[in-house]
Amino acid sequence: MEDRFAFLAEWYDPTAALLRRYQLFYYPKDGSVEMFDVKNQRIFLRRTKYDKIHQEDLFVGNRVNVFSRQLNLIEYGDQFTANKLGSKKERTLALIKPDVVTKIGDILELIYSSNLIVTKAKMTNLTSSQAGDLYMEHQTKPFFTNLVQFVSSGPVVAMELMGDEAMSIWRRLLGPADPAVARREAPQSVRAQFGTDGIKNVGHGSDSLAAAARELEFFFPSTIGYGPSNTAIYTDCTCCIIKPHAISEGLTGKILNSISAAGFEISALQMFNVDRANAEEFYEVYKGVVTEYPSMVTELCSGPCMVLEIHGTDTPKTFREFCGPADPEIARHLRPTTLRALYSKDKVKNAVHCTDLPEDGVLEVQYFFKILDG
Ligand code: CDP
Ligand code: MG
Repeated sequence: MEDRFAFLAEWYDPTAALLRRYQLFYYPKDGSVEMFDVKNQRIFLRRTKYDKIHQEDLFVGNRVNVFSRQLNLIEYGDQFTANKLGSKKERTLALIKPDVVTKIGDILELIYSSNLIVTKAKMTNLTSSQAGDLYMEHQTKPFFTNLVQFVSSGPVVAMELMGDEAMSIWRRLLGPADPAVARREAPQSVRAQFGTDGIKNVGHGSDSLAAAARELEFFFPSTIGYGPSNTAIYTDCTCCIIKPHAISEGLTGKILNSISAAGFEISALQMFNVDRANAEEFYEVYKGVVTEYPSMVTELCSGPCMVLEIHGTDTPKTFREFCGPADPEIARHLRPTTLRALYSKDKVKNAVHCTDLPEDGVLEVQYFFKILDG
């Protein structure tokens, strides 16, 4: 019999303001999909070839786009699927400490090259009480005060990493807690490359699945609005969105490195899953003006994107120049070192959005970090 993967999927229908549930089937042999409406007990989409879904996208917790519908995969539909696709997938917390936040691009490169994906990310400033809660297992240790003081001394970036054995892979990437030991025993590790001492040692990784669950809930709580706040400052700033296609192509680290190398300051960073209604609202000013508007909306809600607040004098203008012309063909001819020239595929999948008009910089940053971050 032919292999068939089954999922329970949810789709928010904005017209009816309803959450609809489907069984989603995927047939790896010919890459076809089929959908069954759970409530109305009838076929919703007959088995159809659909080349935009790949087996590696299919795991619980992920979102997939099926004919412009963004489906949340909320459960495995049968034991066969759970065994085959769900067995070793883990989520873990990776925390980048204040000493290396500017090295985030390099660290993401290592994460992606280890076959892990970043499913959530947020730059935040922890208070000392929050840092103390995070490290409560070390409360009685002699280094506790220094550790808490350091972790709350500047911005950190918390990330949810996902993949096969994510927890141990990230801890192996980090290396031994003491960078001096790391340089001797694991010279390729992140702590060997970027660490300073036992406290300024690049990052943190959950050390058990229970710790991962607790630490992920700490940074990315299921109740919206309860987590540590973002670091946006809303002055002298512009908005940059690393688009979903670039995230899924694993270009996030390279793009962040290019931005830092060009001397721009990233004052806030967060991943968002934008739904269609919000994508339409964000791009409203382009509606009826830019022919690509509908495709821009579809691209922005096709998967997670990463939003940055870029801070500095005149940034809307200088950062926009650094992004380059919206059309990558033109960018590659005229401005070959710009982000679009380097990382675009076409006029819509053009790596990044950046604020067009200087007066919109603050507004666009507010849209994400004030309104959508809730
Ligand atoms: O971070 P990791 O899980 O590898 O090590 P840990 O034993 O859980 O300790 C947590 C953090 O405390 C480390 O990352 C160090 O920054 C700090 N620490 C320290 O400063 N001195 C030690 N002897 C042990 C840990
Ligand atoms: Mg630990």
